[in-house]
Amino acid sequence: TERTFVAIKPDGVHRGLIGRTIARLEDKGYSLVALKLLKPSRTLAESHYESLRSKPFFGDLVSFITSGPVCAMVWEGKDVIGQVRKLIGNTDPLTCAPGTIRGDFGIDIGRNIIHGSDSISSAEREIQLWFHSEELVDWNPSLHEWVYEKVFN
Ligand code: GTP
Ligand code: MG
Repeated sequence: TERTFVAIKPDGVHRGLIGRTIARLEDKGYSLVALKLLKPSRTLAESHYESLRSKPFFGDLVSFITSGPVCAMVWEGKDVIGQVRKLIGNTDPLTCAPGTIRGDFGIDIGRNIIHGSDSISSAEREIQLWFHSEELVDWNPSLHEWVYEKVFN
């Protein structure tokens, strides 16, 4: 099965959107594997967004993320990386369909509430960056037999 890194950014935490965001992923049928609230260090934020280092908004992005708190999570399930990106919506909330998290809760691209890994390789990289392996919980959600026709794992 697949895992992805999801983070509720400081705007989402301050606006009280942790519960509603988690509810959407649970409602879809995905399972939480790890969860913590933290104020990310500059090193962590810069390496998380290292591919954007040359962008003009990089400094603002890093100071925003490090202002915290961030709710960092790992979610698991079939096609979870791509499906979470769909549930989140486009980078710019103004172009997101209603029903997506950014479409329903955001306006500005620099305050777009939530992050989700964009590929298998970035999911692996980001999970390792944000979590120690002991923080990932292996468990067998009993709802799996009702969410999946054939239970994998
Ligand atoms: P993440 O899930 O946060 O990685 O967003 P994304 O994958 O939809 O977009 P991307 O990785 O390209 O950019 C990372 C973050 O940088 C975005 O979520 C935005 O908050 C911010 N960002 C991207 N493009 C712009 C921009 O043109 N202006 C500003 N101010 N912020 C941007
Ligand atoms: Mg991204």
